Amino acid sequence: MAGIDISDQVLLVMGTRPEAIKLAGLARALGDRGRIVHTGQHYDKEMWQDVLADLAGVDVTDHITIGGLSRGEQIGDATSAITRYLLEHPVRAVVVQGDTNSTLAGGLAASAVGVPLVHVEAGLRSHDRRMPEELNRILTDAVADLCCAPIEANADQLRREGVTDDRILVTGNTLADALSTLAATPDESAAALATHGVRAGEYALITVHRAGTVDDRQALACLVEAFAALARTTTVLLPLHPRTHSRLRAFGLEEALGNVRVTAPLAPKEFMALEACAGLIISDSGGVQEEACLFRRPLLVVRDSTERPELLDGWCLLLGDDDPRTAVARAWSDAPDWARSLAARPIPYGAPEASQRILAEIDRRWPPSATR
Ligand code: UD1
Repeated sequence: MAGIDISDQVLLVMGTRPEAIKLAGLARALGDRGRIVHTGQHYDKEMWQDVLADLAGVDVTDHITIGGLSRGEQIGDATSAITRYLLEHPVRAVVVQGDTNSTLAGGLAASAVGVPLVHVEAGLRSHDRRMPEELNRILTDAVADLCCAPIEANADQLRREGVTDDRILVTGNTLADALSTLAATPDESAAALATHGVRAGEYALITVHRAGTVDDRQALACLVEAFAALARTTTVLLPLHPRTHSRLRAFGLEEALGNVRVTAPLAPKEFMALEACAGLIISDSGGVQEEACLFRRPLLVVRDSTERPELLDGWCLLLGDDDPRTAVARAWSDAPDWARSLAARPIPYGAPEASQRILAEIDRRWPPSATR
Protein backbone atom coordinates (compact mmCIF):
# COMPACT_ATOMS: atom_id res chain seq x y z
CA MET A 1 0.00 0.00 0.00
CA ALA A 2 1.60 3.27 -1.13
CA GLY A 3 1.61 6.33 1.09
CA ILE A 4 2.64 5.81 4.71
CA ASP A 5 4.33 3.15 6.81
CA ILE A 6 1.85 0.70 8.21
CA SER A 7 2.10 0.13 11.95
CA ASP A 8 0.18 -2.44 13.95
CA GLN A 9 -2.66 -0.26 15.02
CA VAL A 10 -6.16 0.09 13.63
CA LEU A 11 -7.84 3.50 13.79
CA LEU A 12 -11.55 3.71 14.60
CA VAL A 13 -13.11 7.04 13.61
CA MET A 14 -16.32 8.03 15.37
CA GLY A 15 -18.29 11.24 15.74
CA THR A 16 -21.78 10.49 17.02
CA ARG A 17 -23.59 8.32 19.54
CA PRO A 18 -24.56 5.46 17.21
CA GLU A 19 -21.02 5.10 15.86
CA ALA A 20 -19.61 4.72 19.37
CA ILE A 21 -22.26 2.16 20.31
CA LYS A 22 -21.80 0.08 17.18
CA LEU A 23 -17.97 0.17 17.22
CA ALA A 24 -17.68 -0.57 20.95
CA GLY A 25 -17.34 -4.34 20.39
CA LEU A 26 -14.53 -3.82 17.88
CA ALA A 27 -12.80 -1.29 20.18
CA ARG A 28 -12.86 -3.83 23.00
CA ALA A 29 -11.64 -6.64 20.76
CA LEU A 30 -8.75 -4.49 19.51
CA GLY A 31 -7.68 -3.39 22.99
CA ASP A 32 -4.32 -1.60 22.80
CA ARG A 33 -4.02 -2.41 19.09
CA GLY A 34 -6.79 0.13 18.48
CA ARG A 35 -6.81 3.92 18.46
CA ILE A 36 -9.95 6.03 18.48
CA VAL A 37 -10.38 9.49 17.02
CA HIS A 38 -13.52 11.36 18.00
CA THR A 39 -14.38 14.00 15.41
CA GLY A 40 -16.39 16.04 17.89
CA GLN A 41 -19.55 15.98 15.71
CA HIS A 42 -21.47 15.21 18.90
CA TYR A 43 -19.97 17.34 21.65
CA ASP A 44 -22.62 17.86 24.38
CA LYS A 45 -22.12 15.87 27.57
CA GLU A 46 -25.42 14.03 27.04
CA MET A 47 -24.58 13.35 23.40
CA TRP A 48 -21.06 12.06 23.94
CA GLN A 49 -19.55 11.68 27.42
CA ASP A 50 -22.62 9.94 28.82
CA VAL A 51 -22.43 7.55 25.89
CA LEU A 52 -18.79 6.71 26.51
CA ALA A 53 -19.47 6.20 30.22
CA ASP A 54 -21.70 3.24 29.28
CA LEU A 55 -19.22 1.77 26.81
CA ALA A 56 -16.34 0.15 28.67
CA GLY A 57 -13.28 -0.24 26.45
CA VAL A 58 -14.02 2.74 24.20
CA ASP A 59 -11.11 5.01 25.13
CA VAL A 60 -10.73 7.99 22.85
CA THR A 61 -7.11 8.62 21.89
CA ASP A 62 -7.57 11.99 20.16
CA HIS A 63 -10.19 14.64 19.57
CA ILE A 64 -11.00 16.85 16.60
CA THR A 65 -13.53 19.69 16.79
CA ILE A 66 -16.16 19.90 14.06
CA GLY A 67 -19.29 20.10 16.24
CA GLY A 68 -21.82 22.76 15.30
CA LEU A 69 -20.50 23.33 11.78
CA SER A 70 -22.47 22.99 8.54
CA ARG A 71 -22.43 19.61 6.79
CA GLY A 72 -19.83 20.62 4.19
CA GLU A 73 -17.61 22.20 6.82
CA GLN A 74 -17.91 19.15 9.08
CA ILE A 75 -16.87 16.83 6.26
CA GLY A 76 -14.10 19.14 5.02
CA ASP A 77 -12.61 19.98 8.41
CA ALA A 78 -12.76 16.39 9.68
CA THR A 79 -11.24 15.06 6.44
CA SER A 80 -8.29 17.47 6.77
CA ALA A 81 -7.80 16.75 10.45
CA ILE A 82 -7.98 12.96 10.08
CA THR A 83 -5.63 13.13 7.07
CA ARG A 84 -3.06 15.00 9.18
CA TYR A 85 -3.61 12.51 12.00
CA LEU A 86 -2.96 9.54 9.70
CA LEU A 87 0.22 11.10 8.36
CA GLU A 88 1.49 11.52 11.91
CA HIS A 89 0.18 8.18 13.25
CA PRO A 90 0.49 5.47 10.59
CA VAL A 91 -2.01 2.63 11.08
CA ARG A 92 -2.66 -0.61 9.20
CA ALA A 93 -6.37 0.11 8.64
CA VAL A 94 -9.07 2.71 9.31
CA VAL A 95 -12.56 1.65 10.35
CA VAL A 96 -15.64 3.84 9.98
CA GLN A 97 -19.25 2.93 10.77
CA GLY A 98 -22.62 3.92 9.42
CA ASP A 99 -23.62 7.03 7.53
CA THR A 100 -22.69 10.22 9.34
CA ASN A 101 -20.58 13.15 8.17
CA SER A 102 -17.81 11.76 10.39
CA THR A 103 -18.07 8.36 8.64
CA LEU A 104 -17.57 9.96 5.24
CA ALA A 105 -14.73 12.18 6.48
CA GLY A 106 -12.88 9.18 7.94
CA GLY A 107 -13.38 7.34 4.65
CA LEU A 108 -12.12 10.20 2.49
CA ALA A 109 -9.07 10.73 4.71
CA ALA A 110 -8.09 7.03 4.69
CA SER A 111 -8.57 6.90 0.95
CA ALA A 112 -6.51 10.06 0.39
CA VAL A 113 -3.62 8.81 2.51
CA GLY A 114 -3.75 5.31 1.02
CA VAL A 115 -4.64 3.39 4.19
CA PRO A 116 -7.03 0.42 3.83
CA LEU A 117 -10.58 1.50 4.69
CA VAL A 118 -13.15 -0.74 6.37
CA HIS A 119 -16.81 0.36 6.33
CA VAL A 120 -18.95 -1.27 8.99
CA GLU A 121 -22.67 -1.33 8.11
CA ALA A 122 -22.03 -1.19 4.37
CA GLY A 123 -24.65 -1.64 1.66
CA LEU A 124 -27.64 -0.09 3.43
CA ARG A 125 -29.71 2.08 1.09
CA SER A 126 -32.93 4.05 1.57
CA HIS A 127 -32.84 5.10 -2.12
CA ASP A 128 -33.74 8.59 -0.93
CA ARG A 129 -30.94 10.80 -2.19
CA ARG A 130 -32.35 13.84 -0.38
CA MET A 131 -30.98 12.40 2.87
CA PRO A 132 -27.39 13.35 3.69
CA GLU A 133 -27.02 9.91 5.31
CA GLU A 134 -27.82 8.16 1.99
CA LEU A 135 -25.11 10.09 0.17
CA ASN A 136 -22.67 9.45 3.02
CA ARG A 137 -23.36 5.70 2.74
CA ILE A 138 -22.90 5.58 -1.03
CA LEU A 139 -19.72 7.65 -0.99
CA THR A 140 -18.16 5.71 1.89
CA ASP A 141 -18.88 2.34 0.26
CA ALA A 142 -17.36 3.68 -2.98
CA VAL A 143 -13.97 4.28 -1.34
CA ALA A 144 -13.97 1.35 1.13
CA ASP A 145 -11.54 -1.54 0.58
CA LEU A 146 -13.65 -3.81 2.77
CA CYS A 147 -17.43 -3.31 2.91
CA CYS A 148 -18.82 -5.11 5.99
CA ALA A 149 -22.45 -5.81 5.10
CA PRO A 150 -24.67 -6.75 8.08
CA ILE A 151 -26.87 -9.11 6.04
CA GLU A 152 -26.84 -10.79 2.62
CA ALA A 153 -29.36 -8.27 1.18
CA ASN A 154 -26.87 -5.45 1.88
CA ALA A 155 -24.16 -7.43 0.06
CA ASP A 156 -26.51 -7.89 -2.92
CA GLN A 157 -27.08 -4.13 -3.01
CA LEU A 158 -23.33 -3.52 -3.14
CA ARG A 159 -22.95 -6.06 -5.97
CA ARG A 160 -25.71 -4.29 -7.93
CA GLU A 161 -23.64 -1.11 -7.60
CA GLY A 162 -20.60 -2.87 -9.04
CA VAL A 163 -18.70 -3.59 -5.83
CA THR A 164 -16.74 -6.80 -6.44
CA ASP A 165 -16.98 -9.78 -4.07
CA ASP A 166 -13.38 -9.38 -2.90
CA ARG A 167 -14.45 -6.08 -1.25
CA ILE A 168 -17.52 -7.52 0.49
CA LEU A 169 -17.91 -9.50 3.72
CA VAL A 170 -21.27 -10.37 5.30
CA THR A 171 -20.64 -9.96 9.01
CA GLY A 172 -23.90 -9.72 10.97
CA ASN A 173 -24.81 -6.56 12.86
CA THR A 174 -22.44 -5.12 15.47
CA LEU A 175 -25.41 -3.72 17.40
CA ALA A 176 -26.14 -7.24 18.63
CA ASP A 177 -22.63 -7.26 20.20
CA ALA A 178 -23.29 -3.90 21.82
CA LEU A 179 -26.50 -5.16 23.37
CA SER A 180 -24.62 -7.93 25.13
CA THR A 181 -23.13 -5.20 27.36
CA LEU A 182 -25.76 -2.45 27.07
CA ALA A 183 -29.00 -4.41 27.53
CA ALA A 184 -30.33 -3.66 31.00
CA THR A 185 -30.49 -6.23 33.80
CA PRO A 186 -33.92 -6.62 35.43
CA ASP A 187 -32.76 -4.30 38.25
CA GLU A 188 -31.51 -1.66 35.80
CA SER A 189 -34.80 -1.87 33.88
CA ALA A 190 -36.81 -1.43 37.05
CA ALA A 191 -34.64 1.56 38.02
CA ALA A 192 -35.08 3.22 34.59
CA LEU A 193 -38.85 2.73 34.69
CA ALA A 194 -38.99 4.14 38.25
CA THR A 195 -36.85 7.16 37.31
CA HIS A 196 -39.33 8.06 34.58
CA GLY A 197 -42.41 7.07 36.58
CA VAL A 198 -43.65 4.60 33.95
CA ARG A 199 -44.75 0.96 33.84
CA ALA A 200 -43.65 -1.63 31.28
CA GLY A 201 -45.85 -1.59 28.17
CA GLU A 202 -47.81 1.47 29.27
CA TYR A 203 -45.88 4.28 27.58
CA ALA A 204 -44.71 5.40 24.16
CA LEU A 205 -41.06 6.34 23.63
CA ILE A 206 -40.25 8.86 20.90
CA THR A 207 -37.00 10.02 19.25
CA VAL A 208 -36.80 12.32 16.24
CA HIS A 209 -33.75 14.16 14.99
CA ARG A 210 -33.16 13.70 11.26
CA ALA A 211 -32.83 16.85 9.20
CA GLY A 212 -35.55 15.46 6.92
CA THR A 213 -37.95 15.11 9.87
CA VAL A 214 -37.31 18.18 11.99
CA ASP A 215 -36.01 20.94 9.71
CA ASP A 216 -39.35 21.62 7.99
CA ARG A 217 -41.77 23.58 10.20
CA GLN A 218 -44.99 22.20 8.78
CA ALA A 219 -43.88 18.57 8.93
CA LEU A 220 -42.57 18.96 12.47
CA ALA A 221 -45.75 20.78 13.60
CA CYS A 222 -47.83 17.88 12.29
CA LEU A 223 -45.74 15.34 14.19
CA VAL A 224 -45.86 17.42 17.37
CA GLU A 225 -49.66 17.55 17.10
CA ALA A 226 -49.78 13.75 16.76
CA PHE A 227 -47.48 13.25 19.77
CA ALA A 228 -49.46 15.73 21.88
CA ALA A 229 -52.73 13.99 20.97
CA LEU A 230 -51.33 10.62 22.12
CA ALA A 231 -50.02 12.24 25.31
CA ARG A 232 -53.56 13.29 26.27
CA THR A 233 -54.39 9.64 27.05
CA THR A 234 -51.00 7.89 27.39
CA THR A 235 -47.59 8.58 28.89
CA VAL A 236 -45.29 9.76 26.13
CA LEU A 237 -41.52 10.16 26.73
CA LEU A 238 -39.42 12.26 24.37
CA PRO A 239 -35.65 12.40 25.01
CA LEU A 240 -34.84 15.48 22.99
CA HIS A 241 -31.96 15.60 20.52
CA PRO A 242 -30.25 19.05 20.36
CA ARG A 243 -31.15 19.49 16.68
CA THR A 244 -34.83 18.88 17.45
CA HIS A 245 -34.68 21.11 20.51
CA SER A 246 -33.34 24.02 18.50
CA ARG A 247 -35.93 23.54 15.73
CA LEU A 248 -38.84 23.34 18.19
CA ARG A 249 -37.63 26.60 19.73
CA ALA A 250 -37.05 28.33 16.40
CA PHE A 251 -40.49 27.27 15.08
CA GLY A 252 -42.29 28.21 18.34
CA LEU A 253 -43.53 24.63 18.80
CA GLU A 254 -42.39 23.86 22.35
CA GLU A 255 -45.79 24.66 23.92
CA ALA A 256 -47.59 22.53 21.33
CA LEU A 257 -46.00 19.39 22.85
CA GLY A 258 -48.61 19.64 25.64
CA ASN A 259 -48.33 16.67 28.02
CA VAL A 260 -45.42 15.02 26.17
CA ARG A 261 -42.70 14.42 28.78
CA VAL A 262 -39.51 15.92 27.41
CA THR A 263 -36.13 14.84 28.82
CA ALA A 264 -32.51 15.55 27.93
CA PRO A 265 -30.87 12.94 25.65
CA LEU A 266 -30.37 9.76 27.69
CA ALA A 267 -27.28 7.58 28.06
CA PRO A 268 -27.49 4.36 26.01
CA LYS A 269 -28.18 1.96 28.90
CA GLU A 270 -31.07 4.00 30.25
CA PHE A 271 -32.49 4.66 26.79
CA MET A 272 -32.31 0.99 25.82
CA ALA A 273 -33.96 -0.05 29.09
CA LEU A 274 -36.85 2.25 28.16
CA GLU A 275 -36.92 0.90 24.58
CA ALA A 276 -37.06 -2.70 25.80
CA CYS A 277 -40.16 -2.02 27.92
CA ALA A 278 -41.99 0.50 25.70
CA GLY A 279 -45.55 -0.19 24.57
CA LEU A 280 -44.69 1.55 21.30
CA ILE A 281 -41.56 3.24 19.92
CA ILE A 282 -41.83 6.09 17.44
CA SER A 283 -38.60 7.20 15.74
CA ASP A 284 -36.82 8.39 12.61
CA SER A 285 -33.49 6.89 13.72
CA GLY A 286 -31.65 4.08 11.95
CA GLY A 287 -30.20 2.48 15.06
CA VAL A 288 -33.53 2.58 16.88
CA GLN A 289 -35.07 0.52 14.05
CA GLU A 290 -32.57 -2.25 14.78
CA GLU A 291 -32.89 -1.90 18.54
CA ALA A 292 -36.70 -2.12 18.41
CA CYS A 293 -36.33 -5.33 16.40
CA LEU A 294 -33.75 -6.84 18.78
CA PHE A 295 -35.98 -5.93 21.76
CA ARG A 296 -39.10 -7.12 19.86
CA ARG A 297 -41.00 -3.87 20.38
CA PRO A 298 -43.48 -2.33 17.90
CA LEU A 299 -42.04 0.66 16.04
CA LEU A 300 -43.57 3.40 13.90
CA VAL A 301 -40.86 4.91 11.68
CA VAL A 302 -41.76 8.54 10.99
CA ARG A 303 -40.09 8.69 7.58
CA ASP A 304 -41.12 7.75 4.07
CA SER A 305 -38.18 5.47 3.38
CA THR A 306 -35.89 3.15 5.27
CA GLU A 307 -32.41 1.80 4.58
CA ARG A 308 -33.44 -1.30 6.54
CA PRO A 309 -36.20 -2.86 4.36
CA GLU A 310 -35.68 -6.22 6.08
CA LEU A 311 -37.76 -4.76 8.93
CA LEU A 312 -40.76 -3.88 6.78
CA ASP A 313 -42.36 -7.33 6.95
CA GLY A 314 -43.99 -6.62 10.31
CA TRP A 315 -41.17 -5.43 12.56
CA CYS A 316 -41.89 -1.77 11.93
CA LEU A 317 -44.35 0.40 10.06
CA LEU A 318 -43.31 3.29 7.80
CA LEU A 319 -45.36 6.46 8.19
CA GLY A 320 -44.94 7.33 4.50
CA ASP A 321 -47.64 9.73 3.29
CA ASP A 322 -50.07 8.87 6.09
CA ASP A 323 -51.37 11.58 8.41
CA PRO A 324 -49.21 11.30 11.56
CA ARG A 325 -52.25 11.94 13.81
CA THR A 326 -54.15 8.87 12.61
CA ALA A 327 -51.02 6.73 12.15
CA VAL A 328 -49.77 7.38 15.69
CA ALA A 329 -53.19 6.71 17.25
CA ARG A 330 -53.62 3.52 15.21
CA ALA A 331 -50.12 2.26 16.02
CA TRP A 332 -50.76 2.74 19.74
CA SER A 333 -54.06 0.87 19.64
CA ASP A 334 -52.51 -1.97 17.56
CA ALA A 335 -49.38 -2.14 19.74
CA PRO A 336 -50.39 -4.89 22.24
CA ASP A 337 -51.33 -7.42 19.50
CA TRP A 338 -48.41 -6.24 17.38
CA ALA A 339 -45.96 -6.88 20.27
CA ARG A 340 -47.37 -10.39 20.76
CA SER A 341 -46.84 -11.13 17.05
CA LEU A 342 -43.14 -10.17 17.38
CA ALA A 343 -42.44 -12.42 20.34
CA ALA A 344 -41.42 -15.56 18.44
CA ARG A 345 -40.24 -14.22 15.06
CA PRO A 346 -36.68 -14.95 13.92
CA ILE A 347 -34.52 -11.81 14.16
CA PRO A 348 -33.17 -10.90 10.69
CA TYR A 349 -29.70 -9.81 11.88
CA GLY A 350 -27.66 -12.98 11.41
CA ALA A 351 -25.07 -14.55 13.64
CA PRO A 352 -23.73 -12.77 16.75
CA GLU A 353 -20.10 -11.69 17.15
CA ALA A 354 -19.99 -9.47 14.07
CA SER A 355 -17.19 -7.44 15.70
CA GLN A 356 -14.97 -10.53 16.06
CA ARG A 357 -15.65 -11.49 12.45
CA ILE A 358 -14.69 -8.00 11.24
CA LEU A 359 -11.49 -7.98 13.28
CA ALA A 360 -10.50 -11.46 12.04
CA GLU A 361 -10.90 -10.26 8.45
CA ILE A 362 -8.85 -7.09 9.10
CA ASP A 363 -6.08 -9.24 10.65
CA ARG A 364 -6.22 -11.65 7.70
CA ARG A 365 -6.03 -8.93 5.03
CA TRP A 366 -3.75 -6.44 6.77
CA PRO A 367 -1.93 -8.48 9.44
CA PRO A 368 0.01 -6.94 12.32
CA SER A 369 3.77 -7.02 11.71
CA ALA A 370 4.45 -9.89 14.17
CA THR A 371 2.39 -12.25 11.99
CA ARG A 372 3.47 -10.90 8.59
C1 UD1 B 1 -26.06 12.95 13.14
C2 UD1 B 1 -26.03 12.12 11.87
C3 UD1 B 1 -27.21 11.15 11.86
C4 UD1 B 1 -27.22 10.33 13.13
C5 UD1 B 1 -27.25 11.28 14.32
C6 UD1 B 1 -27.26 10.52 15.63
C7 UD1 B 1 -25.11 13.23 9.89
C8 UD1 B 1 -25.44 13.81 8.56
N1 UD1 B 1 -26.15 12.93 10.67
O1 UD1 B 1 -27.23 13.78 13.09
O2 UD1 B 1 -27.08 10.29 10.74
O3 UD1 B 1 -28.39 9.53 13.13
O4 UD1 B 1 -26.09 12.13 14.28
O5 UD1 B 1 -27.64 11.41 16.66
O6 UD1 B 1 -23.96 13.04 10.20
N2 UD1 B 1 -25.66 19.45 18.44
C9 UD1 B 1 -25.52 19.86 19.75
N3 UD1 B 1 -24.82 19.06 20.58
C10 UD1 B 1 -24.25 17.90 20.17
C11 UD1 B 1 -24.42 17.48 18.84
C12 UD1 B 1 -25.13 18.28 17.99
O7 UD1 B 1 -26.03 20.89 20.15
O8 UD1 B 1 -23.61 17.22 20.99
C13 UD1 B 1 -26.36 20.31 17.50
C14 UD1 B 1 -25.44 20.73 16.36
O9 UD1 B 1 -24.74 21.88 16.66
C15 UD1 B 1 -26.40 20.91 15.23
C16 UD1 B 1 -27.47 19.88 15.51
O10 UD1 B 1 -27.39 19.56 16.89
O11 UD1 B 1 -26.99 22.19 15.26
C17 UD1 B 1 -27.34 18.65 14.65
O12 UD1 B 1 -26.13 17.95 14.92
P1 UD1 B 1 -25.35 17.17 13.75
O13 UD1 B 1 -24.16 16.53 14.33
O14 UD1 B 1 -25.19 18.05 12.56
O15 UD1 B 1 -26.31 16.03 13.24
P2 UD1 B 1 -27.34 15.09 13.99
O16 UD1 B 1 -28.69 15.68 13.77
O17 UD1 B 1 -26.92 14.73 15.38
